[in-house]
Amino acid sequence: MFSLKSLLLVYLAVASWKSLNNHVTLKETSPKYCLVRQNTLSNLISCLDAFTVSRNFYDASSYAAAQPTNGEISAWKTIIRSMLDTNSCDCSDIRVPLVLAHLYTVTMFLDTDTSRKFCVLSEITTSVHRNYTKGWGLMIVPASAKHISRPLHISAPHPQADINTPQQAGAIFSLVGAHSLLISGRFRSAYAVGTDCVLPGRSQKRYFKTDPTHDIDEPFSVANQVIRNWQNANGGCPSQSCAYVQLHGKGASSCAADTIFISSGLGTSPSSLSWYQNTTLDIPARRLRDEARSVFPTWTFSLPSDNPKCSLTATGNVFGRLVNGVPETDVCVSEASALTATAEFIHIEQAIVARQSNVYEKWGEVFRRVFRTSCTGRTVEDSKTGLCM
Ligand SMILES: *[C@@H]1O[C@H](CO)[C@@H](O)[C@H](O)[C@H]1NC(C)=O
Ligand SMILES: *[C@@H]1O[C@H](CO)[C@@H](O)[C@H](O)[C@H]1NC(C)=O
Repeated sequence: MFSLKSLLLVYLAVASWKSLNNHVTLKETSPKYCLVRQNTLSNLISCLDAFTVSRNFYDASSYAAAQPTNGEISAWKTIIRSMLDTNSCDCSDIRVPLVLAHLYTVTMFLDTDTSRKFCVLSEITTSVHRNYTKGWGLMIVPASAKHISRPLHISAPHPQADINTPQQAGAIFSLVGAHSLLISGRFRSAYAVGTDCVLPGRSQKRYFKTDPTHDIDEPFSVANQVIRNWQNANGGCPSQSCAYVQLHGKGASSCAADTIFISSGLGTSPSSLSWYQNTTLDIPARRLRDEARSVFPTWTFSLPSDNPKCSLTATGNVFGRLVNGVPETDVCVSEASALTATAEFIHIEQAIVARQSNVYEKWGEVFRRVFRTSCTGRTVEDSKTGLCM
């Protein structure tokens, strides 16, 4: 049936495919490969996602070794601030502090999808296989302040566990001209030991030390705090244009009635429910629900006040608590209340269908409608992209 020639051709094809594959695998074992080889933001994020520290990776000693020292944490804060301040168009005004220079780099990255330049703070080394040595996170900002159209800060705290949320966060960040993108570098159960960040006596089992939404020692949490302090020192966070948005993924069976469940970090107590319903308050999460309902008419969107039975309210989220007025020293032990809530925190739980790349453009549309541009000194808004020019 087969001629010798066609068999030989098949053999050659397989052999060359295999050698090509080996070649690629070799280079792909370093995160630097992603920075050099990818040319779109979305491919860069997917490429780096593969270096997320895997579930159950750490034991007590390897976790301790991967946590920042005091010197490293203060350098980490410095570099996060420099990222937010950058305005040189080529990232040359961002200096990686010496103590971090062997671990992290800042790279100017040209996204060929949008022809815009970004500064990428990313880890450059691995420990075992393709696990980042540290896993403190990835941060991306526009290289020029003129490409910030809205003071929005988008984040994905649960890479891999909440499938596609880093990629979706990156897409929304780019489509709305947000100020920052932050993605954790560790699987939420990379160290599957309960966090200490709980009310004394409460079970520590539910959330892990490497889950940055429930642990304040995670560098992702520290970065969130720096971002909020920076925003407060630079114009604050006006509800018409600004928010801190966390993207999450939910399983089909949790809060199954909702495709998307949106929370501001308050739960379902009577005072919280009436806060969500109080129309004299300008609550971006509520605007988001309303615009999303019109852009995605076949999906179900709820706030806690629409579906009080859903427990995905994020009342335990440490950054949500901070943004909603709980003092920094109390975020592990105190829930936020309607008395101090700011509405600046938006927590979005989504079914898998809402995290697919075919709806990213529509999410961009939702966010552009919900948040006004603040094109200071650049009065023009591009009618096609909805971004400052
Ligand atoms: C991380 O290391 C573990 C071994 O501890 C390994 O099973 C896993 O595949 C590694 N992750 C990656 C992305 O290589
Ligand atoms: C709604 O919010 C306003 C402004 O904080 C407050 O004065 C009013 O009492 C609230 N209304 C209800 C029904 O809670």
